[in-house]
Amino acid sequence: MSEGTDPERDGARSARVSAAIALFTPSERERILALRRGLHAHPELSWQERGTQTRLVAALAHEGVTDVRVIADTGLVATIPGTRPGAPVIALRGDIDALPITEETGLPFASNTPGVMHACGHDMHATWAVAAGILLRKHPAEGEVRLILQPAEEVGEGATKVLESGALGGVRAIFGAHVDWRFTVGEVVATAGPLAASTDTFEITFHGRGGHGARPHDTIDPVVGLGAFIMEVQTLVSRRLDPGLPGVVTVGVVQAGIASNVIPERARCAGTIRATTPEARTLLCDGVRTLADGVAATHGLRAEVTLSEGTPPLVNTVQASAWAQTAARTVLGGEALKMLATANMGGEDFAFYTERMEGCFMRVGTWSEGRDRSGVHTPRFDPDEDALFVAAAVLAECARVASAAVRP
Ligand code: NI
Repeated sequence: MSEGTDPERDGARSARVSAAIALFTPSERERILALRRGLHAHPELSWQERGTQTRLVAALAHEGVTDVRVIADTGLVATIPGTRPGAPVIALRGDIDALPITEETGLPFASNTPGVMHACGHDMHATWAVAAGILLRKHPAEGEVRLILQPAEEVGEGATKVLESGALGGVRAIFGAHVDWRFTVGEVVATAGPLAASTDTFEITFHGRGGHGARPHDTIDPVVGLGAFIMEVQTLVSRRLDPGLPGVVTVGVVQAGIASNVIPERARCAGTIRATTPEARTLLCDGVRTLADGVAATHGLRAEVTLSEGTPPLVNTVQASAWAQTAARTVLGGEALKMLATANMGGEDFAFYTERMEGCFMRVGTWSEGRDRSGVHTPRFDPDEDALFVAAAVLAECARVASAAVRP
């Protein structure tokens, strides 16, 4: 939390962070903080973001942004005009939905809604997209900029609906960012290549023949088959996947039987598959299916396999990442650019955008000295609000750099 008026804090901030904050007038800063806190106090789950949508429309109108359209049911696209007709159109995306978590931060603007919390920082993302709009009205990009306020990221569905709405028609490049408590305010990750993993799920039922627990020879035991599958499936990552590529196959659900002396008719498991390249994703998904069939055949069972496609791997494009790095360097200096220490195996539906157009999804540091280290998706997640101004400045600069880079 910061008001931008605490001299002790001002001393602790880097000059670059202070400069990013100073791009906003004191009253703009006040409105930005009020917007974020209002969203934080009134979180809404995926596809229920009606109140959020209303707050965002009002905040945009207050800043003079009136070219605003409803898209994807509970989302919005707001257009900021550019200075050069025909210049490339750029999109900046902020997601807006919350999580089913009960907040425990004790903040004065903590969630008013029991069981729902902005624990992934999407209140920050929505707010910094609006704040980028404020900067772009004062110092426009050459091209038109579309602020995409996207619903339903947590369920991996919003981006697809935004694409279907046509709001990204003619867009040359898209930029977005996520809060990251592992980095300090003023630090940014904008690397090309994999940034988040694919998130496919599987559900497998092994059908056998049940019977008395004392007479296994009269049955076809699906429990033993399921046990073999759970162990075998780990060899996809340890023996089939290139060790240089991260991958995960996790079995999170195991269900079979209800009595200790009864061999059940069927045994079921479900899990998640994570990969950071399209090729690794195919290898692991195909592998789960093949292995389930193979284990079933070995044990005389029949495997019923359902694979459900989640979000693809998020792969930042080389060109857009270069633009984002230029932008971050301009705003924060070269030392602000950081690398992820290890691959992030979480999912992010921004991946649907970078599959179709130039795009870079950044991580923006939200930690500062003395702050709790609780990460996203925890009840105590509490990012430093200075990150709002930093991210807004970087995103606005991304739009300026990218739309000026391509000339007819
Ligand atoms: Ni998130």
